[in-house]
Amino acid sequence: MNVLLIGSGGREHALAWKIAQSPRFTRLLCVPGNTGTGSYGQNVPFPLSDAEALVDLAQRERIDLLVVGPDNPLADGIVDHFVAAGIPAFGPTAAAAQIESSKSFAKEIMAAAGVPTAATHVFDSPAEAAAFARDSGKAWVVKADGLALGKGVVVPDDLPGTLTAIQKLGATPAGSRLLLEERLQGREVSVLALCDGKRLVALPTARDHKRLGEGDTGPNTGGMGVIAPVDEVTPTLLDQILTRCMQPVIDELAARGAPFRGVLYAGIMLTPDGPRVLEFNARFGDPEAQAILPLLEGDFLEVLYDCAVGSLNPEKLRRRRGYAVCVVLCAEGYPGRPRRGDAIRGVEAIDDDEVIVFHAGTAISAQGLCTSGGRVLGVTGLGSTLARARTHAYEFAERIKFEGKHYRKDIGKE
Ligand code: AMP
Ligand code: GLY
Repeated sequence: MNVLLIGSGGREHALAWKIAQSPRFTRLLCVPGNTGTGSYGQNVPFPLSDAEALVDLAQRERIDLLVVGPDNPLADGIVDHFVAAGIPAFGPTAAAAQIESSKSFAKEIMAAAGVPTAATHVFDSPAEAAAFARDSGKAWVVKADGLALGKGVVVPDDLPGTLTAIQKLGATPAGSRLLLEERLQGREVSVLALCDGKRLVALPTARDHKRLGEGDTGPNTGGMGVIAPVDEVTPTLLDQILTRCMQPVIDELAARGAPFRGVLYAGIMLTPDGPRVLEFNARFGDPEAQAILPLLEGDFLEVLYDCAVGSLNPEKLRRRRGYAVCVVLCAEGYPGRPRRGDAIRGVEAIDDDEVIVFHAGTAISAQGLCTSGGRVLGVTGLGSTLARARTHAYEFAERIKFEGKHYRKDIGKE
C-alpha cells in the first residue's frame, strides 16, 4: 500500500514508524514531513493550501491511503477532496472535523446527543459575553470558538480575570465567537478512539502534561509529555466514557450526514459527578500519539485503511501489555520563540528495545542533526510498569544533548 501522510511533527514520525511496520506497507510520501518521517519514505515540500494539486500528486504516485495528522488541513477539507477523487482517507471531512474546529458546533452536537459536558453560553461578540459575565458576577472558563493552536482557552479564577480573557480571546481570529463555560473540577484524561463512521475502538488512554513547568505550573504548551495508559480509567469507566460521551457523538454526526472517520479524541474531566467532555479533537494528539502508538500491536495500516473505507474490525487492533512515557525535549525559548540551529548529539547512539526517539523540530544541516523547532524530540520509554517506562524515557532524555535543552522531569511521576 502506498501512503500519503500529512504533517511534520513528532506525531507524524510516530505514525510513519507504525505504518512502516505493516506487512502491507510499500511506500510513504510525507507532506511536508520531517527528519523522522524521512527515514521511512520521501518528504515532499508541497503547499497544503492547494488540495487539488495534492490530489493530482496522489494520483500520479498511485497513493492508496491518505493519513492526516494535524487539525488545520482537516478543517480546510483536505479529506473531502480525496474522497471526491475516490482515494480513501483516514481523517474526517470538513463537516465532521467541526467537532474540533468549532467549539460551538461541538457543544450543539453534545447537547443533541445528550453527552455530559460543562454548561455553556455562546456569544457572537465580546461585548455580549462581557455583559453576561458581569451580570452573573462570577468567573467563567472563556473559549474562542475556532482553532487557536491550543491557545483558545483561559481558565480564570475570578470575574476580572474572566473579563480580561474575553477581551484577549475576542480580539483573535478564532474568537469572533466566544463561549463562556462552567468551570469543572477533576483530573483530566484523554480517550482516543478509531472510528469508521459508525463504530469506535478505543486506543490506550493517555494523559498529556500541557503546562511548561513541573507540578503543572507556568504557561500552556502544545504538550510536554504523556503517559499511557492511565490506570485511573478502569475498564468500566472507559466503557462508560465510550458509551455516554463518544458513541452518541458518532451516531449524531452520522445522522446529520457527516459520518466521522478517523480519530475521535475526547478530552475528559473525571468529576465527582462522573466523566464530562471538555473538548473533542478530530485527530491524534501530539505528543499523545508518541506514547499510544508504541502500545499497539497488529497491522496498524490495515486498521487505518479499514476506518477510511468504513469497515473497522475491533479484533484487528491489539494492545501490548505495559506502559509508555513520552518526554518532550524542547529548544531554548519554547514555548515563546524557540532558538534554531543548535547541534544535537546522542540520538544516533540509541539502540534499545524499550526506547524510541521521535523527531519533531529537527533538521539536518551541514554539521549534522540540529534543532529547528520548539518541541525538538519526543523520547518514549516503554516498560512493564509506569515506573520502568519512566526510567527508560528519562535515562535516554538525559543522554541526548543540545544547547538550551529543557524538559519536564515529572512526567509519569504520580
Ligand atoms: P480545551 O482546549 O477545551 O480542552 O481546554 C484546554 C484546557 O482548559 C483543558 O485541558 C482543561 O484543563 C481546561 N478546561 C477547559 N474547559 C474547562 C472547564 N469547563 N472547566 C475547567 N477546566 C477547563
Ligand atoms: N497535546 C495536545 C493536542 O494534541 O491537542
